[in-house]
Amino acid sequence: MDFLRRSPGCFHAVRNLAEMLEAAGFQRLQETDLWSLQPGGNYYVTRNGSSLIAFRLPEDRPHRLRLTAAHTDSPTFKLKPGPGLTDGGLTRLNVEQYGGAIRQSWLDRPLSVAGRVLVEKEGDLRQVLVAPDRDLLLIPSLAIHFTSPDQDAPSVQSNLLPVLTTEGGPAVLDELLRVCGVEPETVAGMDLYLTNREEPRLWGLKNEFLSAPKLDDLACCYGTMEGFLESEADRDALIYCAFDNEEVGSTSRQGAASTFLRDTLERLFQSFDLTSDERHAMLARSVLVSADNAHAFHPGYPAVADPVNRPKLNGGLVLKHQAAQKYTTDGVSSALCRMLCKAHDIKLQEYTNHSDQRGGSTLGNLSNTQVSLRAMDIGLPQLAMHSAYETMGAGDPASLAAFSKAFFSDRLPEVQE
Ligand code: CO
Repeated sequence: MDFLRRSPGCFHAVRNLAEMLEAAGFQRLQETDLWSLQPGGNYYVTRNGSSLIAFRLPEDRPHRLRLTAAHTDSPTFKLKPGPGLTDGGLTRLNVEQYGGAIRQSWLDRPLSVAGRVLVEKEGDLRQVLVAPDRDLLLIPSLAIHFTSPDQDAPSVQSNLLPVLTTEGGPAVLDELLRVCGVEPETVAGMDLYLTNREEPRLWGLKNEFLSAPKLDDLACCYGTMEGFLESEADRDALIYCAFDNEEVGSTSRQGAASTFLRDTLERLFQSFDLTSDERHAMLARSVLVSADNAHAFHPGYPAVADPVNRPKLNGGLVLKHQAAQKYTTDGVSSALCRMLCKAHDIKLQEYTNHSDQRGGSTLGNLSNTQVSLRAMDIGLPQLAMHSAYETMGAGDPASLAAFSKAFFSDRLPEVQE
């Protein structure tokens, strides 16, 4: 909950993950530098400040790679350049939607902005993270008296711009930047997003539920990191990935379908002087766990769920299957997942889409277009995916941390095809 509270956006999430790594003795690498990696070393690197890859190297040539991947971004709205729009005494910020947000969940609640600002100093640029701890904005819904059942769904551009102030003019944005803690005249660029001010909460008769913004997928970013930091495998290279831009298709410079992982692996291989033959043999032995939240069964909407595979809140980790391989899980990787869960008494449930539903996509199949690895898709069960305030079982994150630790530590079976 503390991690969620301190991560109002992807840039902050990556900063917080980096802090956890630094505290555990990991050394930061810059993509723009030359690397001289030492066997046995612990390193991490970021791209765009919104994606992160961390790795623990074995003392000797790695037998295989063990990787996890989660995503740092969540659906929201992004500020567009230019002034706000003033009409009828209210100034609203010009925003566009980022990812598949449940729009109505953003209405009638205090919001703020979070992201990064590029500050110019002596001809160079410095990234400054901003997240003013203030209720700054709100998107008011239309009064019930003006709504009719046959009305179109609200438009972002016309109906859903967030209200900032009763004042007008260009000075309003400057004032917003000052509230963000930066001098407007030094700001050369920005990536600012709306963020829900609602705090993470435990609730329910036995406090068995956890609700918060951005559970998809910060819950998995955090859970896989916990296991990664406790990992014990010493023959393999252990790799933790958190990618930005999953919610908009992963094809950015830093997304799961980018070359970020492939580029990082190339530099890692080079440090062990591996031949091309050795690299390919190692990749063929490697395994990726793609960790992104899964749909729990919603008793109000039983018709959208598979009749058999219905993950429950607090029922433990979810293994996701889809015949078309949007989820990478197959017979081999599900066997591997079940073996690890059985060995550590980790509660495991299975998810499949209702056979007439299209279902969602995630990271593993996209990352596989750059580095093809044996993979599985797992996640934590949740309700209201892509709402501004999502809900999961308070007991489930522990299952992911335990699984991630087991995956990074246990002997993995060799597979004969
Ligand atoms: Co997700």
